[in-house]
Amino acid sequence: MPISIRQLAPSFAAEIRGVDLRHMPSQAVLDEIYDAFLEYGVIVLPGQALDLDQQLAFGRLFGPLHVLPPMKGPKRRIEDRAIDDVSNLKADGSLAGANSEKAMFALGNQLWHSDLSFCDNPAHASMLHATEIAEEGGETEFCDLVSAYETLDREMKAKIEGKIAVHSLAHSRVRGGHSEADVEYLLELRPPASQPLVRTHPETGKKALFIGAHVSKIEGLDETESADLIDTLLDHAPQPERVYSHRWAVNDLVIWDNRQTLHRGRPYDVDNVRRVMHRVTVDGDGPNVVDGKTIEPEIRRRPVRVPA
Ligand code: OGA
Ligand code: MN
Repeated sequence: MPISIRQLAPSFAAEIRGVDLRHMPSQAVLDEIYDAFLEYGVIVLPGQALDLDQQLAFGRLFGPLHVLPPMKGPKRRIEDRAIDDVSNLKADGSLAGANSEKAMFALGNQLWHSDLSFCDNPAHASMLHATEIAEEGGETEFCDLVSAYETLDREMKAKIEGKIAVHSLAHSRVRGGHSEADVEYLLELRPPASQPLVRTHPETGKKALFIGAHVSKIEGLDETESADLIDTLLDHAPQPERVYSHRWAVNDLVIWDNRQTLHRGRPYDVDNVRRVMHRVTVDGDGPNVVDGKTIEPEIRRRPVRVPA
């Protein structure tokens, strides 16, 4: 069966059918999937009944996977730290409850963000697979940052050109509900990183407005100016005409390009309803800023190959 690709939102996001990722795809099919990933920024592959090993194996085709650092707190439900357990469950598989660490991270995920933008080498792709879904709420929304950049007026483009943004997990987690007491720990776990505010995509060459909830300040501006600019840009980016809202079905695999999109989770009844997703994250080609200066990437396609 040939694969089919159907665009979902006006400027980005597409659905791909006709491939079963439990089996290694051919190089031709992998090329089509990777082309769509670059072109649309978000690809939805319904009906992928993957186990964790199959999800990991497919993820590795895109590049080296990000391994989460060891963290304090309750025992992990899934030991392998290349898998991010995006669920509201405890290690024993029961509901963790609204006051749990899990629920807190879910709240943080409800702010518009790009995965791992607080790392020197922020994420390339994220691959989220749905195992159990909420009947009500729990959608994931995506925002097209290329369109967000292109629709800025000329003055704003000039104002932000060459600016460096500091991205901090502690910053977004406090806004998401984590206590101030967690800040020190989070700063140590994930020290802030600098990213260009206007980011050139290393494979398409397109410019994106690389904003998000992790941005704590813009270098070279005073505190108020910086906070105002962040608010203005965070308000501009996720306008409805460049947002795709994904209503999950079990076995959807959604893959997004963190270099050209933002995403956020939507609320659901976290106390009573099980929502279980597993994320595999592919590392990027960073750092993007060295010694306070943006490194302009050499534009080339990442070699994405099916092993011989
Ligand atoms: C993520 C994320 C949002 C959601 O997995 O990176 O932000 O809807 N998820 O679960
Ligand atoms: Mn995320």
